[in-house]
Amino acid sequence: MVFHLINVLFLVQLTMTPILSFNKSSLVGRELEFIFQTISNGQIAGDQMFSKKCHGLLKEVLQVCSALVTTSCTHALEMAAILLNIQPGDEVILPAFTFVSTANAFVLRGAQPVFCDIRSDTLNLDESKLEELITPRTRVMVPVHYAGVGCEMEEILEIAGRHGVAVVEDNAHGLFGKYRGRWLGTFGCMATQSFHETKNITCGEGGALLINEERFIERAEIIREKGTNRARFFRGQVDKYSWVDVGSSYVMSDVLAAFLYGQLEKWREIQAKRRAIWELYDMELADWASANGVRQPVVPEHCEQAWHMYYLLMPSLQARTEFIARLKDKGIMAVFHYLPLNRSAFASNLASAPTDCPVTKDVSDRIVRLPFYTSMTEKEQRRVIHAVLEWKS
Ligand SMILES: Cc1ncc(COP(=O)(O)O)c(C=O)c1O
Repeated sequence: MVFHLINVLFLVQLTMTPILSFNKSSLVGRELEFIFQTISNGQIAGDQMFSKKCHGLLKEVLQVCSALVTTSCTHALEMAAILLNIQPGDEVILPAFTFVSTANAFVLRGAQPVFCDIRSDTLNLDESKLEELITPRTRVMVPVHYAGVGCEMEEILEIAGRHGVAVVEDNAHGLFGKYRGRWLGTFGCMATQSFHETKNITCGEGGALLINEERFIERAEIIREKGTNRARFFRGQVDKYSWVDVGSSYVMSDVLAAFLYGQLEKWREIQAKRRAIWELYDMELADWASANGVRQPVVPEHCEQAWHMYYLLMPSLQARTEFIARLKDKGIMAVFHYLPLNRSAFASNLASAPTDCPVTKDVSDRIVRLPFYTSMTEKEQRRVIHAVLEWKS
């Protein structure tokens, strides 16, 4: 009877405590006003006023040759693979610890993924392992700036340059982060951004292709517009548009671009808020982490991170499982991600030679991401911190 009562009280308490989700989309400025404006103007297809504003802002801030918003980062990566003429049998080197799209975009063109292990400090592609993975078939390397902390781009560019291999940055996490004082996304011949709901700046689903070499610009416009020269037609450079190349439908609707521009124009405020959240986690959890064998994120001095996520490396897989379950009991949703791509069932049919990536396996077992979103209040964050501090190894 008493046991039953305790259970009921526990359930009542749980249902009264709001669930604290891992991510929540945040309105930061004039997103809704801009959506209303684009619909009122009758301009909801792609490449209208707000898409152009997004292109302009990204180009101006980052000083890239061209920026094109796309339906997703996945699609921007696919565009990069087409632009580099990736062919069956070509090889692409990428970290084993990344999202499937980093691989899929190139695999769709017939390329073989070659998985590189990651550094144990930043969890970025380990540049010291690159050289041994290069073969005469290697066409491209795709460093991923994990958590918005820059990869060692100096070394990566030097190795790629020496072997005549292209570099495409998967910068899904890293918009407005810097490496040695230079914006992430400006090192490779191209870079891709994500504006998915979980990213710092979002429109629900969306992305961008950043182009750092003039020679790709015209063809990128064509590939993005179903393989037609429609962009030239809109600019009055041709009197009709026609099919001139391969391509697909990678153009973002202006309704989403309107939302996106509402966020992009507030990028400094968004980054400042996220910085405050990240720093509070880092400071408040420092003593607890060192006492319990938990590792906090490492950000090298020469990297200005993008404040994208706050993760912890738990002492073991079992500790992580228990930790996530404990937080869940308190209504707090923490998550882990990236199962090692090199160990996935699909990769075993594809990879040219199986690569052992022990650091990726270890990190994938132990990583946990704490709730983190731009509109997170200090009260919400203190609730997470309080729950985390109660966990002991
Ligand atoms: C490293 C990385 N690359 C690419 C993507 C794909 O982004 P999108 O959902 O915009 O296609 C993600 C998604 O989170 C990612 O983490």
